[in-house]
Amino acid sequence: MCGIVGYVGSRSVSDLLIEGLHRLEYRGYDSAGIAVQHHGKVSVRKKAGRVQELAGLVQAQPVCGHIGIGHTRWATHGETTDQNSHPHTGGNGEVSIVHNGVIENYDTLRRQLTALGYVFHSQTDTEAAAHLLAHNLEEQVLLGGDAADIETCLRVVELTLKKLKGTYGLGIIFRDCPDTVIAARCGSPLVIGVGRDEYFLASDSSPLVGYTSQVVYLSDNEVAVLRPDGLRIDHRQSGSVAPHVQVLEHVSSDIELGNFEHYMLKEIFEQPQTIENALRGRLDADEATSVMGGLNLTAKDLRRIDRIVLTACGTSWHAGLVGEFLLEEFARVPTEVEYASELRYRNPPMSDRTLVFAITQSGETADTLAALRECKRKGYPTLAICNTVGSTIAREADGGIYLHAGPEIGVASTKAFTSQVTVLTLLALHFGRMRHMSYPAGQRIIRQLRGMPETITRALQCHDKVREVADKYYRFNNFLYLGRLYNFPVALEGALKLKEISYIHAEGYPAAEMKHGPIALVDEQTPSVFVIPRGGIYPKVVSNMEEIKARKGPVIAIACDGDTDIARIADDVIYVPDVEEYLQPLVCAVPLQLLAYHVALLRGCNVDRPRNLAKSVTVE
Ligand code: G6P
Repeated sequence: MCGIVGYVGSRSVSDLLIEGLHRLEYRGYDSAGIAVQHHGKVSVRKKAGRVQELAGLVQAQPVCGHIGIGHTRWATHGETTDQNSHPHTGGNGEVSIVHNGVIENYDTLRRQLTALGYVFHSQTDTEAAAHLLAHNLEEQVLLGGDAADIETCLRVVELTLKKLKGTYGLGIIFRDCPDTVIAARCGSPLVIGVGRDEYFLASDSSPLVGYTSQVVYLSDNEVAVLRPDGLRIDHRQSGSVAPHVQVLEHVSSDIELGNFEHYMLKEIFEQPQTIENALRGRLDADEATSVMGGLNLTAKDLRRIDRIVLTACGTSWHAGLVGEFLLEEFARVPTEVEYASELRYRNPPMSDRTLVFAITQSGETADTLAALRECKRKGYPTLAICNTVGSTIAREADGGIYLHAGPEIGVASTKAFTSQVTVLTLLALHFGRMRHMSYPAGQRIIRQLRGMPETITRALQCHDKVREVADKYYRFNNFLYLGRLYNFPVALEGALKLKEISYIHAEGYPAAEMKHGPIALVDEQTPSVFVIPRGGIYPKVVSNMEEIKARKGPVIAIACDGDTDIARIADDVIYVPDVEEYLQPLVCAVPLQLLAYHVALLRGCNVDRPRNLAKSVTVE
């Protein structure tokens, strides 16, 4: 949700910023812009639309310099126009800023600053911060401060931050303060890349890949000064902070498309590997359990737990629902999955034996972070199941489990879902083996998990069939997705994928519950996608399918290899490998991801950058 980049050093900055913005585009793609400082002048180029549009503008009107900031926007305040694009300038161009977050008191600030004579050119909340910086600079200069002096600029930043309410990741350039980018963080992520006589600023590490592997994650209330000759970090309350440099693990191929047309397709096909990564080093065949190094809780602590609360948003919530079923079945520990946006304001009864897990790909989702903080504040142990190393949630949780799925760039989450489900399976095995699960049962699960990467490779062989099905159905405007037990969350996830990227109305429902309402929607124009692999209640789901057929609804079935019976009822069948019921969400998610992908392609939609969405939702 909005991406920020910045650079100080000796490279030509505009191309570098634009490349960084391309890599961050998944965070928002309503508009983009850069500001470049050169010989006491700051040039701004900004444009509504994709980063590509900005690149065209910069080609036509080049800007040279070695110091700059850039932004790709997901609009919150103000439409997607050139004027509302960042960077915003304050005063008469003395200050340029890029911002990720929301300035909640912008309206009051705007009125105060307008009364002081500042002229607003946009409808954004950010412009109020830009003018406030300019105003504070003016006052400091009147008091004898030097606009070229870093200490004066830092005082100006502090005076400004004191007045801001809300969340921000900020990149700031003062026109008259040479070779300096200032960054400030409260609630929105920022990472600094450390090079030789150069520093990079970004909302996440993807723009740094290939330039440096040394990174420093800024924490809330920290202000950083980036200059070619050094990095300085101050905590707003506690003063100077020694930068904690960490090593970035990603390599360039992680963020390149390779031979794939879209990131979403690349990420779907990465799943055998990403599931293997999630399992690596975590299976202990001798003890018939899983090894969970990062939980930071002793076996005794874990044994005491009598309730688990999983909290998440979007696709991660769907993974959490699978997790609830797994934990209750394997470990008999009462578990709920809560929408983070609800949990943060609810006050459910919990005890000191309750364990809270935040599930998040990005580690930055505002609601998930707020729910985690609320639980932490109350004193509950909070853990994270997270993909992005060094993200806010990963750092604030008491411990957790990384997915190791590599960067997920397609806005519609795919590989993160299957990795989350894999990790939740490991967790359920761990809790199960501390409780009722026998040694042979644990060993059996380990054997089956080991085979999953290969099984997912086989599941991906449905690709051609899915293409055919997509071609037949892509013109329909309403879909139902139906499944039961472990396949109910899969139905929810399949419907979400279709909605997100092809803008088709789709509802996921428990297959039998469908009789209590959604069945009224069924007609020749409303296909139902049944997730119906073999299992204990297979015949019951077949009956639900018959109910749809009786009402002339077209049926697409996701069924197990060799299930020829289903082909007699369903109009189309997509086959996946036959696995135990608890593993079905992993294999059945694959054809549904591919189906959404191909339907969206056929409808001419932008698969990786669907309208209105952002990969990382850092506002409430
Ligand atoms: C956004 C994304 C979804 C994602 C959700 C939660 O809505 O578009 O794909 O599932 O946020 O994100 P998280 O990073 O917390 O898993």
